[in-house]
Amino acid sequence: MVRPTLQNGSCSAVPSMRRCIGTASPSGYIQNLIGDKRMSEDFRSRYEAVRERAFEFEGMTGELSVAIFLALLDLQRENGVTGHFAEFGVYQGRSAAIVLGDVGESETLALVDWSAHPKLDRLAAISTRFRMFKGSSEKMSTDKDLLSLLDAGVRFSHHDASHSFSNVATEMALMENRIRPRGLMVLDDYGSIAYMQVIAACFHHLYTKDSQLEILLHADNKAYLCRRADFPFYAPFVLERLPALLRGAGLDCYLARTENDSRYRGFSLARKRAPTDPDLYGLNIWGDQFYKL
Ligand SMILES: C[S@@+](CC[C@H](N)C(=O)[O-])C[C@H]1O[C@@H](n2cnc3c(N)ncnc32)[C@H](O)[C@@H]1O
Repeated sequence: MVRPTLQNGSCSAVPSMRRCIGTASPSGYIQNLIGDKRMSEDFRSRYEAVRERAFEFEGMTGELSVAIFLALLDLQRENGVTGHFAEFGVYQGRSAAIVLGDVGESETLALVDWSAHPKLDRLAAISTRFRMFKGSSEKMSTDKDLLSLLDAGVRFSHHDASHSFSNVATEMALMENRIRPRGLMVLDDYGSIAYMQVIAACFHHLYTKDSQLEILLHADNKAYLCRRADFPFYAPFVLERLPALLRGAGLDCYLARTENDSRYRGFSLARKRAPTDPDLYGLNIWGDQFYKL
């Protein structure tokens, strides 16, 4: 089978991307935001400030993920989505530092890690809206205090602990019914060649545990999952607004999707190798059929 190269295709800029995508009528919300220069500038400065703050913590989460986290959290805030946050695998606190500024007054970020690595004093300088649960995810998954916090509902969970099959499966099972409507679950090292068991554990959970979750996006070695019912809420954002926001932040990316099957309809996103690369993968082979909502 002929595989399209990234160089093939014809979309290159945000306004033309909409033309190329040819989606069914986007929501007014999306229409208002596409190509909105002020929104892009606001997002860029927020991204740069948070990246700088987060990168003061030694850690593994990269700049593209910083921007994607913030873009998704902005979308949640604009739509009134509330709920606690959870992070399994904190290390010194880089990824916690990305989201901590977004934790609202009635919300808490639950941090789970069995090591003494987390720099809690430095995190507290950003916000004190977190609680540390010291212990393994596996052990903490029965901890009364943690469960009572998570039971109130979570809008953003980040899974970056041991990455073993059972670790990922345990954390997904723990969070399955605790991710709120319009909440997100993020699995780290998803797609990393060193941790293929993360993918195996993810699909084990999705396809054998009567899960209500599905993969929305794969980017920068992380999988972003939402509830199946929320796919129509998040998909237009990923398709139409996220690439523009990232481009505005200096992160020029392309989207890929080569099937739209109800059993898997997620998007992938990656940095372009050259500015002239197209915005959408495979248009020259399949047309825009996979970029319709
Ligand atoms: C990859 S680091 C986390 C990186 C961090 N999220 C970041 O972006 O900088 C993994 C962390 O998970 C912790 N860890 C490993 N296995 C764990 C487990 N089973 N339960 C809880 N924490 C675990 C380690 O102590 C380490 O701090």
